[in-house]
Amino acid sequence: MSYIDIISQYREQFVTYLHGRTKLGEPKNLYEPVQYILGLGGKRMRPILTLMTAEAFGGKAKDALDAALAVEMFHNFSLVHDDIMDDAPLRRGKTTVHEKWDVNTGILSGDAMLILSYQFFESYPPEIYFELTKLFSKTALEVCEGQQYDVDFETRDDVAIPEYLKMIEYKTSVLVAAAMKMGAIVANASQKDADAIYEFGRNLGIAFQLQDDYLDAFGDPKTFGKQVGGDIMENKKTYLYLKSLEKASKEDQDGLLHLYSIKPEDSTVKVAAVKTIFKESGAVEETKNAIKRFTQKAFDALAETGLPDKNKALLKQFGESLMERTV
Ligand code: IPE
Ligand code: IPE
Ligand code: MG
Ligand code: MG
Ligand code: MG
Repeated sequence: MSYIDIISQYREQFVTYLHGRTKLGEPKNLYEPVQYILGLGGKRMRPILTLMTAEAFGGKAKDALDAALAVEMFHNFSLVHDDIMDDAPLRRGKTTVHEKWDVNTGILSGDAMLILSYQFFESYPPEIYFELTKLFSKTALEVCEGQQYDVDFETRDDVAIPEYLKMIEYKTSVLVAAAMKMGAIVANASQKDADAIYEFGRNLGIAFQLQDDYLDAFGDPKTFGKQVGGDIMENKKTYLYLKSLEKASKEDQDGLLHLYSIKPEDSTVKVAAVKTIFKESGAVEETKNAIKRFTQKAFDALAETGLPDKNKALLKQFGESLMERTV
């Protein structure tokens, strides 16, 4: 089977299971948004990683389905709340939950999704249940911490690159890492292997968020599925921004600081001006290099696992494909 077929098969297995396990209950205004956001699809990268990792360590994908579902449900919860916090109109090419319904609906449906995600662990035997929920709670709290840093940084003008890296590690990469470690836990992998695969996911997740920041500014609006330029409008302190401040001419640095202190009604001019500075300063190149560095770190961690070469190759291919994505 080709690599693409293997990934599609995991995705299909997961999506079929997802539909079977999530039913539309009452009240409709609580559960319809849950169905809506989960039905919009997305790449399903985290649950695929859970299933792949479980099998890579000799377990059964079937046994990892509930953990995968927990991770994807949590991810979708975080997106519903994230879109409220980021004032985002578009998600996966469709209207965001809080715009289609309202903010209160987004808050409560999101809360319900967070609780639902924990319920999926109930099908595991006590020891596995304990390991999974312990990792999950630690991860979920870190995601909240990352999200708060992200918001705090919007109004700070002295964010340093290590702070930014910690922020994206928490808001994004720990969930990718945990998704993989859960696969390892379900498959009864050794502690050393479970930790190495977490490290793989952590570095891959950092590369993934750097890429997300790049696409947010330079992605194709026809395929990206989110509002291109949204991070610039919200004054998000991304790697592109921080590297521009380091590398741009004094004039562009001042220009950028000014542009990131305002939120104009019509953001067209601001977004275009900021993107020009990102490009001309060399920050785009720096971002691409950083993506490569963290992807390589991920692959180094993968090499530390005791996985058979064939399984390593599959995970590596998946990592590489993520860095070439346009969505
Ligand atoms: C979006 O995650 C949020 C980030 C952490 C960047 P994905 O890019 O995995 O979103 P979907 O699930 O594929 O839509
Ligand atoms: C998202 O970061 C992280 C979480 C949802 C926890 P972003 O705000 O960059 O994600 P997108 O770009 O809206 O998907
Ligand atoms: Mg967002
Ligand atoms: Mg955000
Ligand atoms: Mg983003």
